Amino acid sequence: MASSLLRLRTPLASSAAAVLRNHRALRHATPLSVRLMSTEKQYEFILTSRPADGVALITLNRPKALNALCTPLFNELNEAVKAFDNDDSVRALVLTGSERAFAAGADIKEMKDKEFSEVFKGKFLESWSLLTTIRKPIIAAVSGYALGGGCELALMCDIILASPTATFGQPEINIGVIPGGGGSQRLAHAIGKSRTMEIVLTGRNFSAQEAADWGMVSRVVPAEEGSVVDAAVKMAAVIASKSQIAVQAGKEVVNAAYEQSLQEGLRYERRVFHSLFATKDQKEGMSAFAEKRKPTWTHS
Ligand code: CAA
Repeated sequence: MASSLLRLRTPLASSAAAVLRNHRALRHATPLSVRLMSTEKQYEFILTSRPADGVALITLNRPKALNALCTPLFNELNEAVKAFDNDDSVRALVLTGSERAFAAGADIKEMKDKEFSEVFKGKFLESWSLLTTIRKPIIAAVSGYALGGGCELALMCDIILASPTATFGQPEINIGVIPGGGGSQRLAHAIGKSRTMEIVLTGRNFSAQEAADWGMVSRVVPAEEGSVVDAAVKMAAVIASKSQIAVQAGKEVVNAAYEQSLQEGLRYERRVFHSLFATKDQKEGMSAFAEKRKPTWTHS
């Protein structure tokens, strides 16, 4: 009897705790009006909300482990990102963590006993790149530790805003490995070879200000301006107010700059630019300018 009670109580207690945790964190993350209307799916390791028109906010929520990126967390993140990418009412996303940690990296405790055959055959970390395949723009709002996979996660986003507390780094060298979630490649694109070599080979962390000086983050949001999440939501709301076809085309061509030669990239940009003349939003945007009025986008 006691053991069957125990079996019953454990899952109930843990899911109730997760709901309570989610509720508490949502109270801080979203305004009252949004909370009252919220019908978002409940997850165990992330929170989702809609803090502004057209904007979805995903908050990593594994506070005790500093948002270490265990597989179940990443599965939930991928599920939420895919759902928002397919949801027409969402036009821009924000990804954040807690004040203390955006994410302290891949879950070392989950990884430590894995063997080569398992990680190779299981394509370990390959599913992380789903984030880079979505059409809608995603802004990382980083406070606290963004280390290893946490730094890589921020680098997979389209725009990074940092709070003055943000601490970036690729400390994998300290645990006998190297970055495996794209850090060596994306960091080299973002901050250049010499700095990337220094960061990857010494494992030293770098500050929000260094990240801004090196062009890895758009800017450090000063404390007096409010939270980095609010700044990211405001930026996302501006993006969400534009023609979504143009926004998604803009994201696609900027990303092409990382994958194609300059000549190919320029040709691709011009072709995509030409293709926008087939949209109603191009007609509307240019007519509205000529008629001195605000455009009304139909995203078509
Ligand atoms: N994996 C698993 N657990 C982690 C973790 C991680 N990456 N980072 C932190 N935690 C856990 C700690 O084990 C600790 O758990 P317990 O309370 O159960 O002991 C809890 O989070 C709090 O951490 P600390 O007590 O260490 O907190 P601190 O303030 O003293 O230090 C820190 C913070 C400097 C971030 C430190 O936790 C740390 O160095 N973490 C590891 C950072 C790291 O090496 N990241 C790279 C991981 S490998 C990777 O990401 C590979 C890749 O490319 C994909």
